[in-house]
Amino acid sequence: MSASKRGKWSSSFKFVLAAAGSAIGLGNIWRFPYTAGMNGGAVFLFIYLLAVLFLGLPVMYEELSLGRHTQKNPVGAFETIKPRSGWKLVGFLGVLTGICILSYYAVVAGWTVYYIFLSLTGKFSSGLDANTAKAIFESMGSNPWINLIFLALFIGITAYVVSRGVEKGIEKWTSVLMPLLFLILVILAVRALTLPGASKGLSFYLKPDFSKINFQVILMALGQAFFSLSLGMGAMITYGSYLRKEENLLKAGAEVVVFDTLIAFLAGIVIFPTVFSFGLSPSAGPSLVFQTLPFTFSKLPFGSLVATLFFFLLAIAALTSTISLVEVAVAYLVDEHRINRKLAAWVVAGVAFLLGVPSALSGSVNLFKKLPAIGKDFLSLMDFIWGNISLALGALLLTLFVAFVWKAENAAMEIRPDPAKPFLGEEAWKFLVKFIIPIVIALILLNALL
Ligand code: PHE
Repeated sequence: MSASKRGKWSSSFKFVLAAAGSAIGLGNIWRFPYTAGMNGGAVFLFIYLLAVLFLGLPVMYEELSLGRHTQKNPVGAFETIKPRSGWKLVGFLGVLTGICILSYYAVVAGWTVYYIFLSLTGKFSSGLDANTAKAIFESMGSNPWINLIFLALFIGITAYVVSRGVEKGIEKWTSVLMPLLFLILVILAVRALTLPGASKGLSFYLKPDFSKINFQVILMALGQAFFSLSLGMGAMITYGSYLRKEENLLKAGAEVVVFDTLIAFLAGIVIFPTVFSFGLSPSAGPSLVFQTLPFTFSKLPFGSLVATLFFFLLAIAALTSTISLVEVAVAYLVDEHRINRKLAAWVVAGVAFLLGVPSALSGSVNLFKKLPAIGKDFLSLMDFIWGNISLALGALLLTLFVAFVWKAENAAMEIRPDPAKPFLGEEAWKFLVKFIIPIVIALILLNALL
C-alpha cells in the first residue's frame, strides 16, 4: 500500500501527543504504583528510573527509527530490512503480545469506567473510610457481569476509534485531554502531600533502602519501564511509521519518555502519602489505586466532581493506550494482508475480548482467582507473562536486530535530525545498543526463567 494511503500524522506535535497517549495510561497510574509498592518503594523507583534512561530511551529510538525508515508495521519492518528470514517472527511476537496485553488491560480499563459511575453517585464523598473503599472494590471484583460488560464496552469503543483511522481517530482524543490529566494529578498531589502522615509515605517512595534490591525487583522495574513506554511489542515501530521524514525523531522520542516518566512519578506522589495516611498496605497489589484514591477524593472539596473527572481522564488515557495495542495488529493486517481497516479492528477486538474473559473473571470464578500450582490470579499471570517477560524479550530481540542486522550505524542515520552531523549522544547510544542493552536484558531474563 502506498505511504499516503497508510495515513500520516499531520504534525510532529500531534505525533508526540499520540505516542505519549500510547505510553501514558494505566501503566503509569495503576501498574506503576502497585508494582513499586510491592517491590520496596524507593529502591524500585530508583532502578525504574535507571531502566528508563539506559534501556527505555535507547529502545524508543530503535523502534521509532525502524518504523520511520521502513514505513511499515512491525512484521513488515523486519521483513523489509531482512527479507525471508526468521526475524519477522519478532514482529509476530509483537502483534501477539499486543493482543494479549489488550485482553487484560481492557478489564482494568473497564474498572475505571465503572468508577466514573461510582463517583457520580457520590460514593467517594467525605467521611469515606478504608473498609468501605475496600468493600466497594471487592464487590466490583467479585461481580462477573460488571467485569464482562465493561470489558466488552471498553474493547468496543477502542475498535470503533481504530476503525476510523489514524488521523481522524487517534489524534483528536489526545491533544486536549492528556494535559488535563496532568493538571488533576498535580492537584491530587498537593492534597496528598498535606494529609496527616504523608511524610511516611514520601520516605517509603523516595528514600531507597538498598538492602532490598534483588533480582525480582530488577526484573519488575525493567518490565515496568518497557510496559510504561509501550516498548517491546512494536507499538512505537507502528507509530514511527506514520511519522514524516522531516520530523525530528530525536526530540519527539525524548519528549514522550519525559512526559511518561513524569506522570508515573506524580502518580506515586499522590498514592504513597495517601496509602500511609489511610492506614493501608503499600503492597496491596492491583487493587491499590482503586482503594487508595477514593480516600484522596473524599478529602477534597467537590470530591465527587474531582473523582468523576479523574476517572474519566484515566479512562481516556487507557483508551489512547488500548488504541495503540490494537493498532499494531491492525496495521499488520492492513499492510500485509490488505484487509480492510474496519474489519481488521473488529476482528482483533473480538479475539482480545475472548482472551480477556478469564481475566475479567479473575475476581469471581475460583479457578481464575488462584490458578492451581501458580498461586496467582489469571489477570496477574497474563500481566507477568505478556507485560513483563514478553516485552523484555521483544526489546532484546529488537535490539539485536538493530545492532547487528540493520546495523546501529544505519539506524543512527535515521535518528539524526541533520544527516551530516552525529546526534548528541550518538556514540553512547550505539554502545548501549550493541553491548549494554542486550547483555543486561539477557541476564535478567535468564535469571527470571531459570
Ligand atoms: N504504555 C501503556 C501504559 O502505560 C500500556 C502499553 C503497553 C501500551 C505496551 C502499548 C504497548 O498504560
